[in-house]
Amino acid sequence: MSPQSPILIKRSFPWTDTVQGQSVTFRLMTREDQLAVVSLARSLDDVDLAFLRQDITQPAVVDEWIDQIERGRTITILVEIQGRVAGYGSLFHDEMLWTSHIGEIRVLVSGKYRGLGLAKRLTVELFHIAREMRLERVICQIPAAQTRVRQMFERLGFSPEAILSDWIMSRDGETHDLIIMSRPPDELIIV
Ligand SMILES: CC(C)(COP(=O)(O)OP(=O)(O)OC[C@H]1O[C@@H](n2cnc3c(N)ncnc32)[C@H](O)[C@@H]1OP(=O)(O)O)[C@@H](O)C(=O)NCCC(=O)NCCS
Repeated sequence: MSPQSPILIKRSFPWTDTVQGQSVTFRLMTREDQLAVVSLARSLDDVDLAFLRQDITQPAVVDEWIDQIERGRTITILVEIQGRVAGYGSLFHDEMLWTSHIGEIRVLVSGKYRGLGLAKRLTVELFHIAREMRLERVICQIPAAQTRVRQMFERLGFSPEAILSDWIMSRDGETHDLIIMSRPPDELIIV
């Protein structure tokens, strides 16, 4: 695969499903989605904003993310409800690094649509893609204090790999421990 090409996957998008009575479309993110993703980020509450890994409320930051998609370093699935982007799941992977066998998952769902199972659906989709890419492990990085997020990943079969003390700084300048969790993408998960 060329490092300058988007990741080619067999799984086909877009597709639409009904999730707890809502029609939800899952599709791949492209450059046209820049403003919709910025608008999703700007709708987040202060807690979510404090822990954003990158400040995706800034269009330039989302542009860089899209550059990564176009270079084949990231694949992002968006969830769309009533024509608006309600969340995303990304799989980051760099075949030029010594971690070329590892992909990192990041998921985010708008506060309005939490608890519908969207993050779990996105994670399962990303697992299928990780398997197609023959990755050996998928990881996620979460602030240690976010116990509900940690529990969600544990229920999806992730186990802690490492806890890094004071590794991340939230926007208020406080430092927090970071947990790295991982699992192989080799089995199907039922959610
Ligand atoms: C973590 C997050 C993606 C969950 O999204 P979601 O679509 O509500 O998740 P799901 O509905 O698929 O799963 C809900 C599970 O997540 C847990 N959860 C974590 N945070 C939650 C929240 N704020 N609201 C509801 N459920 C939450 C629940 O315990 C629930 O577990 P269960 O259904 O197994 O009992 C969402 O809270 C979010 O975007 N948080 C900010 C970004 C983040 O922390 N991302 C994870 C690090 S990559």
